[in-house]
Amino acid sequence: MITLGIETSCDETAFALLRYNGSKQQPDILAELVSSQIALHQEYGGVVPELAAREHLRNLPLLHEQIFSEAGITLEEVDCISVTSGPGLKGCLLMGMHFAQALARAAEKPLVCVNHIEGHIWAGALKKEELRTPFLALVVSGGHTEIVHVHNFGTYEVLAKTIDDAAGEAFDKSANLLGFPYPGGAELSALADTVKESPFTLPKVMREAEGFSFSGLKTAIALLVKKNLNELSKERKKAELAYAIQDSIVDSLVFKLKKALSLNACKQVVLCGGVAANSALRKSLTDIEGLELIVPEPKHCMDNAAMIAYVGGRRYAEQGQVTNNPQARPRWSIEDAA
Ligand code: KG4
Ligand code: ZN
Repeated sequence: MITLGIETSCDETAFALLRYNGSKQQPDILAELVSSQIALHQEYGGVVPELAAREHLRNLPLLHEQIFSEAGITLEEVDCISVTSGPGLKGCLLMGMHFAQALARAAEKPLVCVNHIEGHIWAGALKKEELRTPFLALVVSGGHTEIVHVHNFGTYEVLAKTIDDAAGEAFDKSANLLGFPYPGGAELSALADTVKESPFTLPKVMREAEGFSFSGLKTAIALLVKKNLNELSKERKKAELAYAIQDSIVDSLVFKLKKALSLNACKQVVLCGGVAANSALRKSLTDIEGLELIVPEPKHCMDNAAMIAYVGGRRYAEQGQVTNNPQARPRWSIEDAA
């Protein structure tokens, strides 16, 4: 069963063609493309929704043509079209959805709307290892931070989520305070990894609270930067502050995941979203005894369309589900995904 996936929820336009081989088999990715807009938004220090939507509109037909020529198949051979319809930026979601709807209508193919977070979680299934429900997912990206209990494909329970900034956003805003260009999370982390300890202390973020909160951390960092402005011109000092920032964010994620594991008997954890690339986070999670950590390939941790094609294809193949009344849902909770 071949599915075309389209993703435009934020600042990446992505297409994928994927053959779904059943839930116990690794799917075949026939072709996948991602066009990132980071360079476009860099001068504004964050994603500008109007510019992002316009860029999607420009990219969609180009990527559509390219993906079929790379895979060497035609739209007629596709069994269903999957598209992200939330959560995300409304104008961006609508671009992908309108494009997908037009394709589905013209080619008389079924359309399946997919939840972006559900996509991130099942990016774990694009690897060889088999995901066995129930498992926990730690979704950490620029826009989302959630611990999700995956009871089965389609049944999700959010155990913790952020009440303000997402983990990636916390990395990026901190990176900005240290003078890195947007997004900056990866650069901050690379600098942090050059030292092994830090004289700086930052609050252990919201350890006892139910959800995550990273906005207080940003204020604490801003104060530290102001107080140590001269010192921070030295690369070593900057690295030590980066270390403390990373340590504080990672501590919050790991602490809450351990708590969730103690309350929910799950052996597998899928770590997904762009921040899954963070080596300090991966190391801390790998150190948890008895845990099978599944991290998708780096390209599938970032926003991509293979994960959307997988979820849409599986929903259509297993449950025969199609979306008759597609609607953009900027704040769509994973709990209502199915
Ligand atoms: O999943 P993603 O591509 O986009 C969203 O859905 O938001 O995640 C991008 C986020 C950015 O905030 C970026 O700075 C962060 O992931 N990121 C990292 C690292 N690599 C990417 N944060 C910390 N350490 C990294 N190594
Ligand atoms: Zn994402």
